Amino acid sequence: MMEMIKKEDILILAIESSCDETAAAVVKNGREVLSNIISSQIELHTLYGGVVPEIASRKHIEKINQVIEEALHEANVALEEITAIAVTYGPGLVGALLVGVSAAKALSFATEKPLIGVHHIEGHISANFIENKVLEPPFVCLVVSGGHTHLVVVKDYGEYEILGCTRDDAAGEAFDKVARAIGLGYPGGPKIDKISREGNPDAVKFPRAKVDGSNYDFSFSGLKSAVLNYLNTCEMKGIEIHTADVAASFQKAVVDVLVEHSLNAVKEYGYDQFAIAGGVASNSALRTAFESECAKRKIEFYHPSPILCTDNAAMIGAAGYYEYLKGRRSGYDLNAVPNLRLGERRIV
Ligand code: KG4
Ligand code: ZN
Repeated sequence: MMEMIKKEDILILAIESSCDETAAAVVKNGREVLSNIISSQIELHTLYGGVVPEIASRKHIEKINQVIEEALHEANVALEEITAIAVTYGPGLVGALLVGVSAAKALSFATEKPLIGVHHIEGHISANFIENKVLEPPFVCLVVSGGHTHLVVVKDYGEYEILGCTRDDAAGEAFDKVARAIGLGYPGGPKIDKISREGNPDAVKFPRAKVDGSNYDFSFSGLKSAVLNYLNTCEMKGIEIHTADVAASFQKAVVDVLVEHSLNAVKEYGYDQFAIAGGVASNSALRTAFESECAKRKIEFYHPSPILCTDNAAMIGAAGYYEYLKGRRSGYDLNAVPNLRLGERRIV
C-alpha cells in the first residue's frame, strides 16, 4: 500500500553504521517506519569468530550509498522531501561510525537539510516508540546489547538518567563468549537462545553476580568464568557435557539478574512502565521472564520486535525525530565519538 505523505509530516532519513550492520531508514513522524534497510555483515565476520573493525569499515563504504538509495526508494520518498538527516555518531567502532557520519554530512550539505547526530543507545531505546504507539516517557529501560548493559530512566524524550551499567562484559558479549566456549560459534546470542529451548535451565547452578556498593550495576565476567571452570572440570573428570543444559543454565543466570535488578529499580523509583532494548532484548527467555514478572508486579511491559532490537536505522530515525522536535542540530564538524556517553551517571 502506498503511504500518503502530507506537507506537515516530518520525514527523517536515518543512517546507522556503528558496528557490523550498514543500515538506512525513512521514518515518518517518529513512529512510522516507511522503510528499514539492513545490510548485515554477520556472515563475513563469522569466518573470524567476531567483528573485525577494519573489514567492517570497508564493507560499510561499499554498501552505504546503495542502502540509502534503497531506503528512499522503498519509502517512495525523494531526497528533497526529507525533513532532516539523522545519523549514529557514537558509541561504536570509530572507522565504522565515520562511514555513516561522512555520508550523512555529505547529504546534509548537498540538500541543505538539517543534520542530527544520534546516540546509538538512544536509538535502541527509541525502537520501543515505533511499535508501542501508546508508550510515552517516563519509563525505565534496560538496554542490553553486544556492547552495552545500561539501566536507564527515560525521563522525557531525549532525557536520560543512568541508574546502572555493567562493570565488565556487556550482556551480549557474555552470550557471545560463552557460545564460543561451548562450541556454538558466532553470533552467540541467537544460538544460545535456540539451543536453550532443549536444555534444563536448572541443570547447573551458576552464580547470580552482585556488585558491591550498587543495586543496579551488573557484572558478567564472573559468570563467564564460572561457565569456563565448569567446562574444564567436566573435561578433567571425564564428565559428558550437555551443551543445551549448560546454555540454558547460563542464560537463566543472565536473565535472573537482569529481571531482578531492572524490576527492583522500577519499583524503587516509582514508575509503572518498563521497556527493554538492544540485541539481547530479542532473547526469548528474557522476554518471557519479563512478561510474567511485570504482570505479577503490575508493571506495563514494552519491547520492540526482534528486527528492531538488533542494530537498525529505523530506531535512529525515531530518536532523531524527537531530537529534531527539541531543536537539536549538529554542525558539519560532527565527528564519530567511539565512547560517547549517554547522559550523566547518577550516584546511587
Ligand atoms: O544491539 P546489537 O545488534 O548490537 C550492539 O549494539 O551491540 O546487539 C548484538 C548482540 C550480540 O552480542 C548478540 O549475540 C546479541 O545481541 N543477541 C542475542 C540474541 N540476539 C542477538 N542475545 C541473546 N539472545 C538473542 N536472541
Ligand atoms: Zn546496537
